[in-house]
Amino acid sequence: MIVTTATPESISRAADLLHAGDIVAFPTETVYGLGGDARNAQAVAKIFAAKGRPSFNPLIVHGYNAEALMPDAVFDSRAEELATHFWPGPLSLVLPLHAASTIAPITCAGLPSVAVRVPSHPVARDLLKAFGGLIAAPSANRSEQLSPTTPQHVVESLGNTVPLILAGGRTTVGLESTIVDLTSERPRLLREGGIPRADIENVIGTLVLPDVHGTIVAPGMMKRHYAPSKPIRLTATHAEPHEGYLMFGAAAKPSGKIFLNLSESGDLTEAAANLFAHLHTLQAADITGIAVAPIPTNGLGAAINDRLQRGAVSQ
Ligand code: TXA
Ligand code: MG
Repeated sequence: MIVTTATPESISRAADLLHAGDIVAFPTETVYGLGGDARNAQAVAKIFAAKGRPSFNPLIVHGYNAEALMPDAVFDSRAEELATHFWPGPLSLVLPLHAASTIAPITCAGLPSVAVRVPSHPVARDLLKAFGGLIAAPSANRSEQLSPTTPQHVVESLGNTVPLILAGGRTTVGLESTIVDLTSERPRLLREGGIPRADIENVIGTLVLPDVHGTIVAPGMMKRHYAPSKPIRLTATHAEPHEGYLMFGAAAKPSGKIFLNLSESGDLTEAAANLFAHLHTLQAADITGIAVAPIPTNGLGAAINDRLQRGAVSQ
């Protein structure tokens, strides 16, 4: 495994690995991704193997721009509008798979739909450009574990299973992309994420929530997910002496064995960017559990609370 700063040379090397059917980890604005050629079934199988991910989980396909995705995904007017407003950026769209698509079926777990996104991170963009194709990439962590927002997180979670990790510092958004399913008449919010629900509703109207009693439409919806290795206790006004404390805002009072504030000024964007890094730090500390202060549910707070609630589901 090689961890290398993203430079034109290392990005070109990463593109060569993708062409050869290998996998590479790279930064996006949301979290680090573990990428492979979306049209190469063997490359995508390597992603599943490295993550230890259940194979029914379809992956997000990343393109340089909407045009690059159009031969494989059917964009209706809603999709075009959302793409115009939010791409490049942290929004994934689930669209009908194009009849002429050559994306490997394993990438979409055999579904007749595909999740597509155009990332804004300069390294992700340079890699997509150098590769010239579509990159299937889930978050670069073992299945169910915390998402990686630094190259070090990727090393800790995946270690030697990845030949090359392109390092591009800490990710800025810190939460995975918001996922909107446009395969039916009523747009559905499959996952809260880096773009607040209200911003999307301003463009295409009300988003409905998926029927949780149906089949799993997005495994990001699996109850236990994004989980640190220590138990999480939510809406905690203080931490016990043997716990760590994940605080929010100026009102939170330090307590516990170790305490970290997601945002002292109560800024939800800053809190999202810090969320996984703070959880990584806390899970590595010598504590029995993580107490989490109440966090508002407006704007990005919805996605932050979603991740914490899934992390709190006991094994
Ligand atoms: O921010 C992100 O989206 C990051 C970066 C790397 O781009 N990627 C990411 O991928 O979070 P992953 O694999 O951890 O989550 C992908 C989610 C899963 O919940 C999956 O079920 C859903 O997207 N998904 C993918 N294709 C789908 C489809 N055809 N229908 C429904 N859900 C789909
Ligand atoms: Mg993930």
